Amino acid sequence: MWRLAGRWRRPGLGFDFRAASTAAMTCRAVVLSRFGGPEVLEVRPSVEVPDLRPREVLVRARAVSINPLDLRMRSGYGRSIFEPLLPLILGRDISGEVAAFGSSVSSLIVGQEVFGALHPTAVRGTYADYAILSEDELTLKPPSLTHVEASAIPFAALTAWRALKSTARITKGQRLLVLGGGGAVGLAAIQLSVAAGCSVSTTCGSKSIDRVLEAGAEQAVDYTVEDTELAIKGQFDAVLDTIGIPVNERIGINFLKKGGHYMTLQGEAASIADSYGLAIGLPTATAILLKKQIQYRYSHGIEKRGKKKNLCDGPVLSIGGHT
Ligand SMILES: NC(=O)c1ccc[n+]([C@@H]2O[C@H](COP(=O)([O-])OP(=O)(O)OC[C@H]3O[C@@H](n4cnc5c(N)ncnc54)[C@H](OP(=O)(O)O)[C@@H]3O)[C@@H](O)[C@H]2O)c1
Repeated sequence: MWRLAGRWRRPGLGFDFRAASTAAMTCRAVVLSRFGGPEVLEVRPSVEVPDLRPREVLVRARAVSINPLDLRMRSGYGRSIFEPLLPLILGRDISGEVAAFGSSVSSLIVGQEVFGALHPTAVRGTYADYAILSEDELTLKPPSLTHVEASAIPFAALTAWRALKSTARITKGQRLLVLGGGGAVGLAAIQLSVAAGCSVSTTCGSKSIDRVLEAGAEQAVDYTVEDTELAIKGQFDAVLDTIGIPVNERIGINFLKKGGHYMTLQGEAASIADSYGLAIGLPTATAILLKKQIQYRYSHGIEKRGKKKNLCDGPVLSIGGHT
């Protein structure tokens, strides 16, 4: 159930969607008021929809997807940051239709089909009939994709994009190793790398082999039956580790060319901050990263860099020089 306070009409019919106020609008949403198992999620029939800021877009949800980050946040990961902000609405990804937009939005019109993802730290997520995203967090949904398909893409693909393009700055002709290519982030990473003209080796489970090869991987190593370390061939300009187990970090570093990037999605800052509080947790996480940087600089001759405020799943912990 929802209602609109303002009088909205479609452009061309005399009403102004840009000036629409959502101040007294409510909608159905899945709310998290305490951390725990799936049972703590609560469907509430009328949750307030905040007023739109100039660059924001109100999206009527047709499909949203569940990311590992949503599950971890629900269970209390990042509680040192998110507990004071409860109740939260989880969910990063959405596919739906533009229902209204703020005064500065110029690229979208009401009724267009869009998909996109919120920033990892957004506290009003997409598990609602109406979600608010900024204009630059959305793009038009290709007609060839269903809403369900589209909603499964953005957060995972943006995570891969950020690692490969912003951190490793991959270029044509480079070699990449994706540890865990069968998952959502890994599969996106393979496709983005291949599209950028790179060659990709990957590890995945038996049921994912055909899929990763179809996505363009040159070599797929089945981690469930093969000795990954023996099976992987050559040296790589960048390694994206979507799994984050200690053996993968060792493999990733050992197969890296000098000056390459080892990137893992398993940031420690949030969990350390949860255990020790923000004041101690963040400096501790920074110290752990620095220690690894020094260790790998001496043991493998590579420069390492990391994002110390790696508080959520979205950011990528990078260990590797930009040189
Ligand atoms: N999804 C996101 O938007 C997102 C964003 C930021 C960070 N992350 C983080 O990135 C990680 C991966 O997320 P995801 O969404 O890609 O997960 P996912 O879709 O559940 O995929 C994980 C995959 O890991 C594979 N796997 C498990 N153990 C492995 C091993 N030892 N070696 C190689 N592959 C292994 C499995 O592949 P097979 O099925 O082939 O066995 C599984 O499909 C998670 O830790 C998550 O928290 C995810």
